[in-house]
Amino acid sequence: MSLALEKRPKISVIGTGYVGLCTAVGFASKGYSVLACDVDEAKIEKINRGLPPFHEPGLQEKLSESLAKGNLSGVVGQIDRVVGETDLTFVAVGTPSRPDGSIDLQYIESAASNIGRALKQKDTYHVTIIKSTVVPGTTQDIVKPALERESKKRCGVDFGLCMSPEFLRQGSAFQDTVNADRVVVGSFDKQSGDKLEELYRDFYSGHVPPIIRTTLSTAELIKYASNAMLATKISFINTIANICEKIPGADVKVVAAAMGLDRRIGSLFLDAGLGYGGSCFPKDVKALIACSKALGYTPELLDATENVNRKQPLKAVEFCKQQLGTLEGKKIAILGLAFKPDTDDMREARVIPIINQLLKEGATITAYDPVAMHMAQIIFKNKIQYAASTMQCLQKADCCILATEWPEFQKLTPQDFIKNMKQPILIDGRRIYDPQVFGKKMKFVALGLGQPI
Ligand code: UDX
Repeated sequence: MSLALEKRPKISVIGTGYVGLCTAVGFASKGYSVLACDVDEAKIEKINRGLPPFHEPGLQEKLSESLAKGNLSGVVGQIDRVVGETDLTFVAVGTPSRPDGSIDLQYIESAASNIGRALKQKDTYHVTIIKSTVVPGTTQDIVKPALERESKKRCGVDFGLCMSPEFLRQGSAFQDTVNADRVVVGSFDKQSGDKLEELYRDFYSGHVPPIIRTTLSTAELIKYASNAMLATKISFINTIANICEKIPGADVKVVAAAMGLDRRIGSLFLDAGLGYGGSCFPKDVKALIACSKALGYTPELLDATENVNRKQPLKAVEFCKQQLGTLEGKKIAILGLAFKPDTDDMREARVIPIINQLLKEGATITAYDPVAMHMAQIIFKNKIQYAASTMQCLQKADCCILATEWPEFQKLTPQDFIKNMKQPILIDGRRIYDPQVFGKKMKFVALGLGQPI
């Protein structure tokens, strides 16, 4: 049973990146009244015009609907106002990596202090929920003291505090927000957790996922453990792929498909390729390693996960050199720049180390991506050339590296490469092409495939 409209709590969200904006639009799309707050004026101005500041399928439509219904409003700064006018505040500010891999908590600390100052002025019960990914201990040892210091009130008595990590994937972030596999509610005290659980039960009414009630630190660790497990699964299958390449006739795709049928293993996140990128896995694995080392334990397995991932993209360069000899003056076409399909995000994209190494070896690069070209221009400026289409990218190339498995690249045929390239050599870094079809018509190298096919 869902709560009557007038009983529904009002919600504020601080930080309007992927997590914050999807959370805000998720609640607003289900009829809650939401204030989304960010210090970035340009971002809020776009949001208030119905334009998400990043590419995310389905989000623009839901954002526009929510604005039109008056359920959502973007606010620049003014944390005192948004906390004052709402009942629960989700904190979804960034937690970037420091050079040593540990996370930088300055935005969390500043949000907590601002919320604390707002709580000082407030006489009704308010719950703050940390949604940003933070290392175990952060909510208890940094957020709680800041809230208490600035509000001059007691956590667990005068106000509530929870930690509830997100598990959304870019490219399906809105869908993941409204349909969760599980919800984690870490709470300082029972009352805070009850309030948040009540909100989630109302939000997901009809299909409430399993809700795990736990402590603040366990909730924080669940997020890191989940991402570290997925990252390790990827580095594991990439290790098997590298072994397959040494065994004539072996194919990692078949190995992974057969492994995945074992229910204890599962079929997802066993796609071998150039490794994992994005804003989460690389940062979270590094942060968990740094946190664990600071606590006196060296997590060797996670060090290995990271090392495999660091080396994996350079295999594409190795393959190029095997095919072309020297790369000096050779033209390499790169298909796909985003860290994965359905996003324009290039944070930790696997093509970055690939392109940098190719340039170092004297190659010239032409690249194409359906949506991430503007991001690549910021990163590579005039060091590479930018094509307006796949076919233009392939023109007169000596070798092509498929780096992101966008659906439009999956439709390409050997003829497309043969027709346009100087010499048709294709390196399939994401295993999207059938070796039986491509291997017979052109020079084809697939990651994780033992030669000869
Ligand atoms: C991830 C988690 O899935 C999500 O739960 C968390 O909250 C944030 O981090 P995201 O970064 O959006 O989400 O992308 P995801 O789809 O998990 O892929 C991450 C990277 O792993 C991509 O670079 C992708 O190409 C790579 N990957 C994924 C593989 O190389 N093989 C796979 O089998 C799966």
